[in-house]
Amino acid sequence: MSIRKKYIAGNWKMNKLSAEASSLAAEIVKGAKAAKCKVLIAPPFTALSEVSKIVKGTNVILGAQNMSNEKSGAHTGEISIDMLKDLGVGAVILGHSERRIIYGETDKFINSKIKLALAEKMEVIFCVGETLEEREAGKAADVVSKQVINGLKDVPEADLSLITIAYEPVWAIGTGKTATDRDADDVHAIIRQTLKKIYSAGSAEKMVIQYGGSVKADNAAGLLSMENIDGALVGGASLKAEQFLAIINSVK
Ligand code: 13P
Repeated sequence: MSIRKKYIAGNWKMNKLSAEASSLAAEIVKGAKAAKCKVLIAPPFTALSEVSKIVKGTNVILGAQNMSNEKSGAHTGEISIDMLKDLGVGAVILGHSERRIIYGETDKFINSKIKLALAEKMEVIFCVGETLEEREAGKAADVVSKQVINGLKDVPEADLSLITIAYEPVWAIGTGKTATDRDADDVHAIIRQTLKKIYSAGSAEKMVIQYGGSVKADNAAGLLSMENIDGALVGGASLKAEQFLAIINSVK
């Protein structure tokens, strides 16, 4: 029996206008009341305010998909951590591969965001993952370890309780190609080893590591049965209440 509580998070990405977001959130809240796992939904910024009212006082945590690495000031188009807190956001997704690849976010930049979030006691879902090219070149373990080491640079061990790591192989995101249970678990074990090296065996054991990349109701149970897979970061299947709830309900 794992000491880690399973954690299922939905990343809605750039989908759902506020009315749609509200009704999806309401369905999820209703269906997740008896969830045996931690549950988070991360709507787009523009729907946070509406969804916040719906999840308030429930077991569903409100997440944001990104935030600025600066506290405030002249940063046109950015969203600050205080703005997120103001809307009841309890956790922020940082380092998603879409931010890294499409918007050029580097390990160093992601590290600065992680440190700001932690300094402000905000929970973080920190994403890592290799591209297809890196996997085919046999570099998956190296790439992911390096992302973990660089992303957590100067993060004190005491703050790890605020961090969840999400392993999302880029080639599995939105492609319908899931890593096999074994392949995913192997990388999760490498992440845990890396944490053990940086911090301690105790902290590595406690770290919740989600898998993300084409997680659906029919593959969730298999993935979640693996020793080192402690949850899921779900994209596409989190946009339909029925599918997302089926993933949540696969946690027994
Ligand atoms: P999909 O579940 O759509 O593959 O997306 C995964 C993801 O990127 C979640 O952050």
